[in-house]
Amino acid sequence: MSVAPYAGNGKVTVPDILSRKSPVSKSQPTSQRKITCLTAYDYPTARLLDEAGVDILLVGDSLGMVVLGYENTLPVTMEEMLHHTRAVRRGTQRALVVADMPYGSFHADIADSVRNAMRFVKEAGAEAVKVEGGERRLELIVRLVEAEIPVMGHVGLTPQSLNAMGGFKVQGKTPDAAERLLRDARAVEAAGAFSIVLESVPRELAARITRELRIPTIGIGAGPECDGQVLVIHDLLGFTMGHTPKFARKYADLAETISRAAREYCEDVQTGKFPSDAESFHAPPMPVVVARRRAE
Ligand code: KIV
Repeated sequence: MSVAPYAGNGKVTVPDILSRKSPVSKSQPTSQRKITCLTAYDYPTARLLDEAGVDILLVGDSLGMVVLGYENTLPVTMEEMLHHTRAVRRGTQRALVVADMPYGSFHADIADSVRNAMRFVKEAGAEAVKVEGGERRLELIVRLVEAEIPVMGHVGLTPQSLNAMGGFKVQGKTPDAAERLLRDARAVEAAGAFSIVLESVPRELAARITRELRIPTIGIGAGPECDGQVLVIHDLLGFTMGHTPKFARKYADLAETISRAAREYCEDVQTGKFPSDAESFHAPPMPVVVARRRAE
């Protein structure tokens, strides 16, 4: 039997993602494929991930930590996010491109927040935006959806709340906290978001939220029952410095590969092994012109 998961030219759209919600009852077919999402921040990575069949490329504000060397995501600016979203857009044909709204771009005035979200669509080619926060973002999400901007929610550990949360900690561990998180997720859905990221929440709670919501849940450190999974690409590739969270499975060791390549290059330059004659350009032999000094 052939399977045609996408209509049209194979481009992943917001309705496609909505339709990939796992069945809520046993009578529904269980053949829905999980949604795959990875972060991307540049053209070559976007191209490779897109060609590998990843459904959603998220230009996360994790950009600040894994690419720009900031200590956390708070300093990331609109201009930085727009710059990298444009690069990802240029490298993507099939995947849905989602841009993360950075801290400060949606916290002050709703009209300004909508204008900032529009910049991602108009100036950078994003097809949706992601906003961190639950009940507090209800009005904003409603306004963005009214402005035809699809929204991906994000609850649980929201790194932009670092100072308020007192660190990067697993969320929803007590009955009260779990109830609050459930309310946050319901609010994001009620406001009209098309999907929601659940970050660093107990597996059991993520499974409950996934069962309750009609929109797909995309987990990161939230267990396997979510409708999809997302990882920061640098974690997956082993291209980070310092601590990586326990949920971030490393599929490659790019840091080691890059360090080894750079060390070998330095060694080859110092010992004269690079460049070789084959790596040099040659010109045809030229007659030697002897300059004659003109007699004065
Ligand atoms: O910024 C980011 O990369 C994210 C993902 C971890 C979901 O928000």
